[in-house]
Amino acid sequence: MSFAVSEKTRVPLIDLKRQYNGIKEEINSAIQDVLDSQAFILGPQVKEFEDLFASYCNTKHAIGVSSGTDALLLALKSLGIGNGDEVITTPFTFFATVESICNVGAIPVFADIDPESYNIKPSSIENCISKKTKAIIPVHLYGQCSDMDPILEIAKRHDLKVIEDSAQSVGAEYKGRKSGSMGDLGCFSFFPSKNLGGMGDGGMVTCNSKEIEELIQMLRIHGGKPKNFHAALGINGRLDTLQASVLIKKLGHLDHWCDERRQKASYYTEKMEGLDLVTPKIMGFNKHAFHLYVIRTKERDTLMEHLKANNIDCAVYYPVPQHLQKCMAYLGYKEGDLPQTDLAAKETLALPIFPEITREEQDYVIEAVKDFFSTSVQ
Ligand SMILES: Cc1ncc(COP(=O)(O)O)c(C=O)c1O
Repeated sequence: MSFAVSEKTRVPLIDLKRQYNGIKEEINSAIQDVLDSQAFILGPQVKEFEDLFASYCNTKHAIGVSSGTDALLLALKSLGIGNGDEVITTPFTFFATVESICNVGAIPVFADIDPESYNIKPSSIENCISKKTKAIIPVHLYGQCSDMDPILEIAKRHDLKVIEDSAQSVGAEYKGRKSGSMGDLGCFSFFPSKNLGGMGDGGMVTCNSKEIEELIQMLRIHGGKPKNFHAALGINGRLDTLQASVLIKKLGHLDHWCDERRQKASYYTEKMEGLDLVTPKIMGFNKHAFHLYVIRTKERDTLMEHLKANNIDCAVYYPVPQHLQKCMAYLGYKEGDLPQTDLAAKETLALPIFPEITREEQDYVIEAVKDFFSTSVQ
């Protein structure tokens, strides 16, 4: 079958304008309220959003911070993790996970991933544990939780803390438990393209410990308590009132948006069955939030070119695993040390997915993928 390129068709990876247009009045009036109050820093909407978010995640506390990156940094700081300590994590993640570990002076130690879920493989964690290990950071990649029970069990046995990197997985569940509610702390990002995205940067830390809540509340304002009296080094890491006001409104739509994402994902999966590619595997214990819809094929680079040539946006998350980044060379990892991660970085590709993507757009993507395999496999 030949595939005709339509001049007009362009399928974006995500289209935030469609979401905004659907809830414009709600959002505009929330922003207007903040403008009227001029309470930009830690205004009442921040606490309101924190309470709503904690209740959404089934945690006792939530602390609004300036980004997902700062959520991770503050989480590590609140546990006293610093110089020379080791933190085990996955190399198949966004750089911020690893950057935060390094920025508190600790050393990232990488465990390989499970090739089906792309998340850290619990059985690969134990070999990474040393006397210096203080914590594990599982990352719930693409919107699907890591296999938390064995991770929590290993952590308990070795007296380690667990920080969930839930930046991509708001709305996801593991055995009925919400992402970000299972470890000692959960870290979320409200980067605009996330399932729950602000209109700028934003983040959240969730936890069940009052002590940690109060510590992070202090650390996000330079460690000052009371103001100008500093017993600890913190950062300027607050969540903006404007962002909180937007996120309060968006939180009310989150479950519906995640349902939409799941439906769109299952349509792709159904229609691409039988092609020489691997569709996302939803692990039995999970409710996937489909932040990204990621397929896998040995022909990844040529498929990507084909899709782009047909005006379909697609992207690789992540082309260089974090243990092979130039600035991580001092750690001494080389290609082949974490073989499943190396392969996934070469073979995975994210297709357009967002709650408002139309059936027509999905069909166009599916046809382009089918066309690629019918012409490339000859
Ligand atoms: C897995 C992961 N961790 C951390 C972050 C950092 O979040 P932010 O961009 O809000 O700082 C991201 C953001 O893309 C992420 O995907």
